[in-house]
Amino acid sequence: MPKKPIRAVHALEEAQRIAFAPFVFQATITLKRMGVLNYIFENCNNGGVDLDTIAEALSISDYGLGVLMEIAESSNIVCKNEGDKYELTKTGYFLTCNKMTGINLNFTQNVCYQGLFHLQEAIETGRPAGLKELGHWPTIYEGLSKMAPDTQQSWFDFDHHYSDGIFDEALKIVFGHAPKLLFDIGGNTGKFAIQCCNYDLEVRVMIFDLPGQLSKALENAKNKGYENRISGREIDWLSQNTEIPQGADIIWMCQFLDCFSKQEILKILTSCAASMDIDTRLLIMETFTDRQKFDNARFILEATSLYFTTMANGNSKMYKAAELIELIDQAGLEIVSDIGVRELHTLFVCKKSNRN
Ligand SMILES: C[S@@+](CC[C@H](N)C(=O)[O-])C[C@H]1O[C@@H](n2cnc3c(N)ncnc32)[C@H](O)[C@@H]1O
Repeated sequence: MPKKPIRAVHALEEAQRIAFAPFVFQATITLKRMGVLNYIFENCNNGGVDLDTIAEALSISDYGLGVLMEIAESSNIVCKNEGDKYELTKTGYFLTCNKMTGINLNFTQNVCYQGLFHLQEAIETGRPAGLKELGHWPTIYEGLSKMAPDTQQSWFDFDHHYSDGIFDEALKIVFGHAPKLLFDIGGNTGKFAIQCCNYDLEVRVMIFDLPGQLSKALENAKNKGYENRISGREIDWLSQNTEIPQGADIIWMCQFLDCFSKQEILKILTSCAASMDIDTRLLIMETFTDRQKFDNARFILEATSLYFTTMANGNSKMYKAAELIELIDQAGLEIVSDIGVRELHTLFVCKKSNRN
């Protein structure tokens, strides 16, 4: 990215914002959780609110509310109107009401915040050194079904937010291939598998995941009455045995390969290729850092990479499309369609390469 000229005074200000970023973040979380931002939002049509009114309504000390509101004002989250009353700024409005921002705040606070303290150790060791703050598992994925409820909720909210919205469009593409048997690799809670069965009356889905997630996914499938159409296979892609059966018409992986290092991705794709015949299609849905229209989207993905480094597994990231394209080729596959899906996602439809 070309360097933008910036005046020294602004650069120094930016540097201080970074130096104190955790203070602003924790103040925001506290203001949200104590109901202050919401209270100001609810009173925005009443000409704003003063400190005493907020303090009394929410039973917060003048001192406590005062320090929070001061940093919120200098961080451009709240402002004072002509009547000297507090209102939300636009940023304050998004922090209070925007769904994606709320999900990202909770993910940062409940899943990553304490663990990020161990980032340097994670970089130096290639291990998710921050994960010990949540529990003692080799990677976060073994812990998903066991972690504290609010952490688990925040993880799933984050994960689902970035995939739920594209399932509708994905289903049309998937069923354009008229699959009878679909493998959902990293099927997680079974959400996509269930939607496949809702969409098509015949399709059968086999979910591949770690034991804890798989049993949750199969339980969810059973609750929807799909126990005869959705089955599962336990697999650990980090183990020696990564063979999968033949016979799938579609192999589906959504937001899955970013959970692995490049070397591991090559192993996974090679296993898939070995199970495919000339008609099988492998569909890879990802959010690539080099395919984003907006800088802000790229920023979110690059922050998410640090979650992988510190919390998830220590060696994966949100990739550039170019990096994955190279691995797909090395695994003996070729991309037959490269489709942009909504704002953030890309879908690669792959087949076995003619070289094989
Ligand atoms: C980020 S989630 C993606 C979930 C889902 N496909 C979606 O689009 O929302 C990654 C999934 O991969 C699974 N996974 C991670 N590491 C794995 C491993 N070593 N072996 C098997 N599955 C794994 C996780 O349990 C989780 O269900």
